[in-house]
Amino acid sequence: MQRIPLIAGNWKMYTSLAEARALAGAVVSACKGLSDREVMIAPPFTALATVAEVVKGSQVRLAAQNVCWEEQGAFTGEIAPGMLRELGCSMAIVGHSERRQIFGENDALINQRVAGALRFGITPILCFGETLAEREGGQTMAVLERQVRAGLAGISVGEPASMVLAYEPVWAIGTGKTATEEQAQEAHEFVRNLLLSMYEKSIARQMRILYGGSVNSGNVDALLRQPDIDGALVGGASLKADSFERIIHFRQ
Ligand code: 13P
Repeated sequence: MQRIPLIAGNWKMYTSLAEARALAGAVVSACKGLSDREVMIAPPFTALATVAEVVKGSQVRLAAQNVCWEEQGAFTGEIAPGMLRELGCSMAIVGHSERRQIFGENDALINQRVAGALRFGITPILCFGETLAEREGGQTMAVLERQVRAGLAGISVGEPASMVLAYEPVWAIGTGKTATEEQAQEAHEFVRNLLLSMYEKSIARQMRILYGGSVNSGNVDALLRQPDIDGALVGGASLKADSFERIIHFRQ
């Protein structure tokens, strides 16, 4: 069985409501007639309800950029998984390097978010990736292994589609410096083997591993041609309708 490629747009802290509505509309149009790939967009929390109306009835999946693990309670600034479900979200980005680096989220906290999302039927997209210093220090694979093992600690995956991973080398995010196809494939293959050692083989083979970090309309085809790259998590280029449309229409 083949893994269905997933093209995901992370809008980060961008878009007014009007911009979000227009961009989501363009993504819905761009997806018409596509059946061999999945497309997801993650607007800021404030635009989720607006974007939910636009994508309703289309094949575009809605995601949040983070998710709490508790059903409700005194967690100022957090959003519960059930609240996201109510808005039509079926996925949530978890452990993005900006959460780790700017907001101090650690592996244990991220693991709680992964577990919480799954408990409420939300597919987590668990992000991991090394910094430039870690790569130059020869630590890349050790960092990836630590982040993936810790992020998935105690997590059982019954259904491969219910868990997505995303390799995002920190030095490639928002810098215009993409990992080469070879660098990305090497990391993805390493993580694939790690998953094969952690989960039942038929499940680990089916789990999707996305690449993120300066993906654009010019490099997406070559990246997605790699055997273990199952999609893209796109930041900047997902904010422009024409470039995201070209990424959605990647050619393998
Ligand atoms: P850029 O595509 O802007 O490098 O961002 C990648 C990213 O962080 C997606 O989550």
